Amino acid sequence: MFKILLLFIGAYLLGSIPSGVWIGKLFYKKDIRQFGSGNTGTTNTFRVLGKQAGIIVLIMDISKGTLATLLPVLFHSTVINPLWFGVFAIIGHTFPIFAHFKGGKAVATSAGMLLAYNPLFFLYSSAIFVIFLFLTSTVSLTSMIAAVLITLSTIILPYWVPAILPTHNWLLTIIAIGVSAFIFYRHKENIARIKNGTESKVSFGLQAAK
Ligand code: G3P
Repeated sequence: MFKILLLFIGAYLLGSIPSGVWIGKLFYKKDIRQFGSGNTGTTNTFRVLGKQAGIIVLIMDISKGTLATLLPVLFHSTVINPLWFGVFAIIGHTFPIFAHFKGGKAVATSAGMLLAYNPLFFLYSSAIFVIFLFLTSTVSLTSMIAAVLITLSTIILPYWVPAILPTHNWLLTIIAIGVSAFIFYRHKENIARIKNGTESKVSFGLQAAK
């Protein structure tokens, strides 16, 4: 029991690493929270610090979710479903103890949890993201569309394309519904900007277009 508690704390602490803030401060002498959308996540890192920093933060934020989800496997503690440890990393990412509890919008770390769950499903989910990013040029809108489509896919794929997701896991679907609702909630300011036409767009190279 004590081991499980420690692993949950570990997952939260891993998620809490504010990659964008730390990379910005360490290597660019810039606090990304003072620029762009003010968000600590990958998109704002691309926007404020450029492609190289953005890619590093994307990899770090995905890895946090992956590693946290794998923690119980790595420490031979299989009593609780590993997905719950991914959830704790997502909570850490959005409410990080290392950054005054003001963190990102849950997207990249959730993707990391999917990578640990099933790499093929992660690739499928990433493809959805890339397609909608090309179609909308808006990361926030893409994040919300992808959250809905990926959640639906957890139900549909096991029947239609079992090669990608062989079995329907209700826990995955329930967590995906919860995480999607949370992603929408975390994007409430983006939703307001999308409605009034001021949300920033990307041009490919993922540099801010406006
Ligand atoms: O992953 C966060 C993204 O969907 C939106 O980020 O900085 O445009 O609010 P941002």
